Amino acid sequence: MKPCIPKLTIVLSLVLYSIGWLGTAQAQRSRENFDKLWQFHKGDIAIKQAVKAGKQGGLTDANVKVVEGEEAIIAYTDKNKVANYKPSDWINVNLPHDWLIEEPYIHDDNIGSQPAGNGYRLPGIGFYRKEFEVSEADSGRKITIEFDGIFRNSTVWVNGHLMGNHPSGYLPAWYDLTNVLRYGKEGKNVILVKVDATDYEGWWYEGCGIYRHVWLTKTDPLHVARFGTFVTTPSVSDREAVVSVKTTIQNEYKDPKTITLVSKLVDSKGALLNTQTVSQSIAAFDQVEIAQTGTIPQPQRWSPETPNLYKVLTEVSEAGKLVDTYETTFGVRTIALTTEGFFLNGKLYPIKGTANHQDFAGVGVALPDKLNAYRLKLLKEMGCNGYRTAHHPPTPELLDLCDQMGLLVMDENRLLTSTDNGLNDLKTLLYRDRNHPSIFMWSLENEESLEGNVTGTRILAKMVETARKIDTTRPTTAAMNHGWNEGGYSDAVDVVGYNYGQRGMQYVKDHEKFPQRKMIVSESTSYVATRGEHEDNKQKGYVSNFGMGLSWGLQPGQDWKHIVQYPYLSGTFVWSGFDYRGEPTPYRWPCVSSHFGIMDLCGFPKDGYYAYKAAWTDTPLVHVFPHWNWPGKESKPMKMRGYTNCDEVEWLVNGKRVLKQKVEPFEYIESEVVYQPGQFEARGYKGGKLVARELLQTTTAPAHLTLNADVTSLKADGTDVAIINIAIRDAKGRVVPTASNQVKFSINGPGRIIGTGNGNPSSRESDKASQRMAFNGYCQVLVQSNQSAGDIRLSATAETLKGAEVILHVH
Ligand code: GAL
Repeated sequence: MKPCIPKLTIVLSLVLYSIGWLGTAQAQRSRENFDKLWQFHKGDIAIKQAVKAGKQGGLTDANVKVVEGEEAIIAYTDKNKVANYKPSDWINVNLPHDWLIEEPYIHDDNIGSQPAGNGYRLPGIGFYRKEFEVSEADSGRKITIEFDGIFRNSTVWVNGHLMGNHPSGYLPAWYDLTNVLRYGKEGKNVILVKVDATDYEGWWYEGCGIYRHVWLTKTDPLHVARFGTFVTTPSVSDREAVVSVKTTIQNEYKDPKTITLVSKLVDSKGALLNTQTVSQSIAAFDQVEIAQTGTIPQPQRWSPETPNLYKVLTEVSEAGKLVDTYETTFGVRTIALTTEGFFLNGKLYPIKGTANHQDFAGVGVALPDKLNAYRLKLLKEMGCNGYRTAHHPPTPELLDLCDQMGLLVMDENRLLTSTDNGLNDLKTLLYRDRNHPSIFMWSLENEESLEGNVTGTRILAKMVETARKIDTTRPTTAAMNHGWNEGGYSDAVDVVGYNYGQRGMQYVKDHEKFPQRKMIVSESTSYVATRGEHEDNKQKGYVSNFGMGLSWGLQPGQDWKHIVQYPYLSGTFVWSGFDYRGEPTPYRWPCVSSHFGIMDLCGFPKDGYYAYKAAWTDTPLVHVFPHWNWPGKESKPMKMRGYTNCDEVEWLVNGKRVLKQKVEPFEYIESEVVYQPGQFEARGYKGGKLVARELLQTTTAPAHLTLNADVTSLKADGTDVAIINIAIRDAKGRVVPTASNQVKFSINGPGRIIGTGNGNPSSRESDKASQRMAFNGYCQVLVQSNQSAGDIRLSATAETLKGAEVILHVH
């Protein structure tokens, strides 16, 4: 493919100045999204380190300088030629980007940290580069770049200067570019990022590349430090919340400065509630932490049901001139994890949670914010109030969404380690995330082999001590799979996490033995099921929704029954909310994804979804499965299972009652029924009153498609996404539950297809193609807006079926 190399003439900083949010020429602080107009090179480029700045070595200032012209992107001096550089090796990309999603599947169980862990795709090395200009007016400001997440082991050069290396694939990498940038006429800047993902950090699909956002921040040398505010509410009552605001101000001038710090508390509508002002001097090249205390009268509590947010607006002035502004979102809520369970705002509040990796159909780990919001919306609709960021720090935008949408977060660290690097990673996690009201716990590790071991205990204790120095307002936990009662391991954390603690009723026994122990079910269930499948099929890699209970798991809903019976367990995080690539269990190839999800990779619900919705919401519900399309099985007995939150259920086949039965809370009902094509009706009763119904009908052949977009309009920002679900229906409009037609998409207008999916864990079709096989009646296409307004027309066709079209207004 001939690359189209854009003339990168956009001067982002000037744009930001022109729309400066304070409307002044010398904006105090700007934070520019830096996701657009990158170039990507798959494969390694040999680079020798320079031994003297700008002089010798492989990638010096001289050999990365930009040469104007159609073909050249980087000119390498002959002497220091680093690679046989070809412009055609580079393609244009916008971030977030996961290149592994476009790699072929390789049937080799050895790929990954455990067999098939990475989903049969081979990660590798890639490079990203971007040219950008910085205006003369920015000279003298402090300019930093923050990568929310690069998977993994990234090395960054700017204008040939090695800025640093950052191994973690899950924590942000941050560099101060001030001294090495070229300002105004000094020329263009080039940033080069090497990503070496040849190693793994987990046992799931982890992707490859700059898969989260990038930000360029410009401030005065006198400014609020990175992650420089800490807002807590040490005392909360109906009358008043006391708000403690700690602000770290950094002076990078060579002279001492006297600053005035104003901290304004505002509500979600921006109404000013309180102002605190203090003056302070700061020595040259030094920083100070300033503590202020304000109050909010009659505070609106934050909770998943009422996600009320407040802000601290920070203003830093020097000699009457405003030099920096900063915003911190926070919430007013009380949390207490006790021996009796978890309390939110003083009330027992069991966590209805799921644990999740960052992965979605069509895009891999590179989720635009909209897809994170979509996933959280689906979880909330199911009745979830909790989210565990398994098993690593999440992208920060996910936490903003949890604050706004209302989900309590168990924020998880990646590794059990007390090395300097490990503790620094943990500190970054805590400093970055500690203002989020959604976060109620820090999870320091998951299922490490040193659990219950004295060495593990020493390491964990050091991590807890490190966390407590940064935040005492939330408890620490470890998501343990074993070793709860050995080596003092459990005593090191505030709350003991039980992964699959139902085995041998370990958590109940431990509660009796250690009544002072605070507990949470950090992981449960691991129920494997392939959406729409009702028979195991090892050859295809499918697992029936009747479930093969795994030896360490439970049936959907039974996990919740334990929380209701034993509230001291504080709640549960079901493994997992969504399917994710890699870790295909129990079968491997041709299966390439997990099917632990309550929903599949597209967010389509499996049968078990209804067990949770029944348990976690008040909406009366009956669900019954499998579907009612079984040609050849007429007059044969058929196993049917039902989930409900009603107290009695009735089943009818073609109008004739085949079952009427009382139902125990959180249990399913199961019975054999003779299959006759037509209609299966499930009715749910509460106190003898019919409150819920579900109809299964035998369909005829697929006849047409319908498209269901989650929105009718998109923002013309180049990032917004519409999720369009395609259903294959018969002539009467009923979804054909076994349909697997190939659906072709075409698009017109200011948008593009960024991926497709169908939730089939064994699908090895390209996620980036403009066609997809439907899987058991459904598939999905993701459409992202461009930066211009207009109408997007997305049409879907399938041979012999009547196609459909959806229009999305972009403005
Ligand atoms: C847990 C582990 C998860 C996942 C799950 C599958 O033990 O924490 O990452 O592997 O098992 O059941």
